[in-house]
Amino acid sequence: MEKETTVGNRSRRRVLHGLAASAWAVGGVVPPAAWAGEGAPADGAAALTIRFAHVVAPDTPKGLAVERFRQLVQQRSAGRIQVVVYPDGRLYGDHDEMQALQLGAVEMLAPSLSKFGRIGFPEFELFDLPYFFPDMASVQRVTQGPLGQRMLDRLVRQRLVGLGFMDNGFKHMSANRPLLEPAHFAGLRMRVQASRVIASQMRALGARPVTLAFSETRRALAAGVVDGTENPISNFWTQRMHEVQADLSLTQHAYLGYAVVANQRFWDGVAGADRLLIEAALSEALAYGNDIADAQNAKALAALRESGVTRVHELNVAQLEAMRRAVAPVHAALAQRIGMQWLMDAAEAIRSG
Ligand code: SIN
Repeated sequence: MEKETTVGNRSRRRVLHGLAASAWAVGGVVPPAAWAGEGAPADGAAALTIRFAHVVAPDTPKGLAVERFRQLVQQRSAGRIQVVVYPDGRLYGDHDEMQALQLGAVEMLAPSLSKFGRIGFPEFELFDLPYFFPDMASVQRVTQGPLGQRMLDRLVRQRLVGLGFMDNGFKHMSANRPLLEPAHFAGLRMRVQASRVIASQMRALGARPVTLAFSETRRALAAGVVDGTENPISNFWTQRMHEVQADLSLTQHAYLGYAVVANQRFWDGVAGADRLLIEAALSEALAYGNDIADAQNAKALAALRESGVTRVHELNVAQLEAMRRAVAPVHAALAQRIGMQWLMDAAEAIRSG
């Protein structure tokens, strides 16, 4: 079996080592970035500051939901509580954001669900299963129901407080060739997130998965370190991946979404009334973000078509069926890692609609 490749391990270890050392040394509260972040108080007058880091552009479903959260908290607390947003991986990226949160170097994050498996929650990888969710409504039957709540509640084992789920959308495949059937993936190095399910999906298609941080992906595509990738179109467009990928194939093969998490020690220290204010603002911002996610992806697709740089390909019924058949073994192969009960409960929630 082809081995998964991971790029950037050494630099990740270096950064995390430095981060851990400095966080412990100074009480874990000083971010290393020179850039102050969106919404940073000019005079440091806020009674409570929440640093919220994420890795995507402001003009994405996640970026817009987090910005809405920032505004609501600021308005409702009359500036007493400030949310400082660090988008685009400017403060922490895929390699170090979870650890930064656990160490208290940032208070809130919204990592993609695919990134929870490697910190001890493989059940989150059920969201990565190819062709598992037929549509967004079925995703929300899992994320917005008791099963989703159970998943969030378990995060406390890693000193994280799970506050809610946030949608992006369905992923599509890109490369410098159309990817319309499994044979087209042969030999391609495809960038993936650090998820066993996604790696296995790429292998099932005949490609070689290469784990890379989101922030490194465009550069790696431009340099030919990897040949292709998968993402919702809002991420593809806002990272300008169309400039370095000739073809986008609308495979709609799997979902990508996020969990909003807070550092437990921080959260426990927030006064009850403020906690209610923050929770209410977040729940409103998530409802807003989940509402506009589809439209943002459609807008990005329209802009992409309009730009004329990348060719956009639709798959016909036979091609979609061949893709489904090729990746079907991934479900059985990863069932044990994810957990049979989680899978059965998710399937049940999907059916309940
Ligand atoms: C994100 O949407 O937060 C990043 C997704 C990725 O790493 O592909």
